[in-house]
Amino acid sequence: MNHKASLSLDGNSFELPVIVGSEGERALDVRQLRRDTGYITYDDGYGNTGSCSSDITFIDGEKGILRHRGYRIEDLANQSIFLETSFLIIYGELPTANELVRFRQLVASSASIHEGMRHFFEGFPHTSHPMAILSAMLNSLGCYYPEMTSHKHSLNEEHFDGAVAMLISKVRTLATMSYRTRLGLPFVYPRWDLRYAENFLHMMFSEPYRDYEPKPEVVDALDLILLLHADHEQNCSTSTVRMVASSGANLFASVSAGVSALWGPLHGGANAAVIEMLQEINRSGDDGSQAIEAAKKGERRLMGFGHRVYKKYDPRALILGQAAKRVLGSMGIEDPLLDIAQHLEQAALKDDYFISRKLYPNVDFYSGIILRAIGIPVDMFPVMFAIGRMPGWIANWREVATQPKMKIHRPRQVYTGPVVRDYVLVDERPK
Ligand code: CMC
Repeated sequence: MNHKASLSLDGNSFELPVIVGSEGERALDVRQLRRDTGYITYDDGYGNTGSCSSDITFIDGEKGILRHRGYRIEDLANQSIFLETSFLIIYGELPTANELVRFRQLVASSASIHEGMRHFFEGFPHTSHPMAILSAMLNSLGCYYPEMTSHKHSLNEEHFDGAVAMLISKVRTLATMSYRTRLGLPFVYPRWDLRYAENFLHMMFSEPYRDYEPKPEVVDALDLILLLHADHEQNCSTSTVRMVASSGANLFASVSAGVSALWGPLHGGANAAVIEMLQEINRSGDDGSQAIEAAKKGERRLMGFGHRVYKKYDPRALILGQAAKRVLGSMGIEDPLLDIAQHLEQAALKDDYFISRKLYPNVDFYSGIILRAIGIPVDMFPVMFAIGRMPGWIANWREVATQPKMKIHRPRQVYTGPVVRDYVLVDERPK
């Protein structure tokens, strides 16, 4: 397709090229708009703005479709594991059997942290939020690998595989260290022989005198949660990673910024906010009905509901809703929060307020219930999101960093402040 859109402005007409993506998504190319017309586009919150073209993830929010590199999320969730999906997202293809073995070995052998970094943990107060620690530590990690943080693209590329394994592996180690620091527990070293998610649980919950032995269903559930978070195209944190990368900043600095962007309750902090909301509903004796009424009056938001892109069920929420029932059942846990969540979901799905606004459960609605059952504290939930999202951030960073003509991201604005005025000396200003 090679058609153009025409724009009529101030008595003149202009042509805007149309770009069509591989799934038929269409965009107006406004790159020359300001040069040709003096106008910019205004799109507060970027709901209509394509900030890049990308080969990694496709979402059709109207149909509830999510695919990574062409593979359906449902197939990946059923048949793949987090590390394999990470490889797919980062390198573009499913690994061969040998590539997968090599990747797993590289990740497993990259798990420990430079001993110097252990001392950093002594400086953080015990009240520190684990997301603050994670963001700081990921950036600091780069200090130990100057060849990977030189901001030189040729060196970045040469060391890319090492940096990938390091980040995918060490983000997990750092997360567990922040948890144990807070509890005053000794750090547990990673093990070579354990699967990715199992190694995480080992570093979280083992003691020097007793190994933690999770049920296989628990390991599988955690791996599934990580896999379902692995990438989600141009969300707030991934766009942040791309924005930082566009200045030429190194991978460690860029993903550290991604963690900060993820932290907020409207993004990766929503999984924690969901549990806090369900606990509050439970404490008040409500079955969820009052919370729904409050949301309809605009007094609160139903956390874990709604999405900028999905106007149908988030496919990840469907998978996690079923997983939550399965995992809690297999662990013999009866969690009243699961009952409230299910009631909220059913009530909202029938309610006109939610139907007309196309508000459905999103990925964060059920993930926290599973994480809680596993024993992960609520303020670590966004950290779990960050561990899962790491491959997506890395893949997006690379797309920016390897562009032949890298363009710094620099949006414009419509200025609405005071017009020009003369400087007033301090003595002459109103008292
Ligand atoms: N509960 C009640 N009403 C809502 C909700 C909600 N969770 N979300 C949106 N609305 C209403 C909103 O009040 C507005 O109503 P009206 O048109 O009457 O003013 C309408 O729906 C559109 O909302 P919006 O804020 O313009 O939508 P958005 O696309 O800017 O926001 C969102 C998307 C995810 C930030 C929002 O739905 C929300 O705050 N949800 C709760 C937080 C949450 O679960 N976040 C996790 C997102 S998924 C994982 C991730 O990407 O991090």
